[in-house]
Amino acid sequence: MSTAHNNAKKGDIAETILLPGDPLRAKFIADNYLKDVVQFNDVRNMFGYTGTYKGKKVSVMGTGMGIPSIAIYTYELIHFYGVKNLIRVGSCGAYQDDMNLYDLVIAMGASTDSNYANQFDLGGTYSATASYNLLEKAKKAADEKGIKTHVGNVLTSDTFYQNDPDSWKKWASMGVLAAEMETYALYANAAKAGVNALTILTVSDSLVKNEETSPEERQESFTNMMEIALELA
Ligand code: HPA
Repeated sequence: MSTAHNNAKKGDIAETILLPGDPLRAKFIADNYLKDVVQFNDVRNMFGYTGTYKGKKVSVMGTGMGIPSIAIYTYELIHFYGVKNLIRVGSCGAYQDDMNLYDLVIAMGASTDSNYANQFDLGGTYSATASYNLLEKAKKAADEKGIKTHVGNVLTSDTFYQNDPDSWKKWASMGVLAAEMETYALYANAAKAGVNALTILTVSDSLVKNEETSPEERQESFTNMMEIALELA
């Protein structure tokens, strides 16, 4: 069995998967951290791989950018391939002035400007949250490695380029730590299916300080985040 977006067969994908946005980062993780790697997907170049980390089976696959893209891939991973633990490893734009480039953010919750949760017809505002179990393990792994983390709410936005360049300041005033574009859908899909999800992010730019990293730095410098995520396998 395969899907319209994934040519893996049932059993090809581990119960735990790391999910970077960029498929080439998925390849980088497989090449640098996993042993006995087998590629399971190449549809749309959204590369996915399964291997082992410290003897445990783990997969890694790109999600693309934004809610619609991650929502499709994670729905299929959960419902067609039996994935139980989904860990997004991505980048974010910092909203608070005590945050520096390359700091790590663990998304305890995700707010959004998207209508993604309307499909569940809840009659209210759904608060998307991480799996506490994964969150606790990730925080502990970071503390043991001496890696500083910011734990809190992120904004999953449908827009990278905003019409109003100051619109982020209202979210920042609510204590939101950073912007990214996928976590709300990941957490909602996982919650609806009763599986576990967590997002770990590296600060790639700061809206407060107007700083950013280069694409090369982004590709190579996310070691801390990946090592924490792999401890969750
Ligand atoms: N906004 C949305 N997504 C992002 C950003 C941002 O500023 N930085 C990295 N991913």
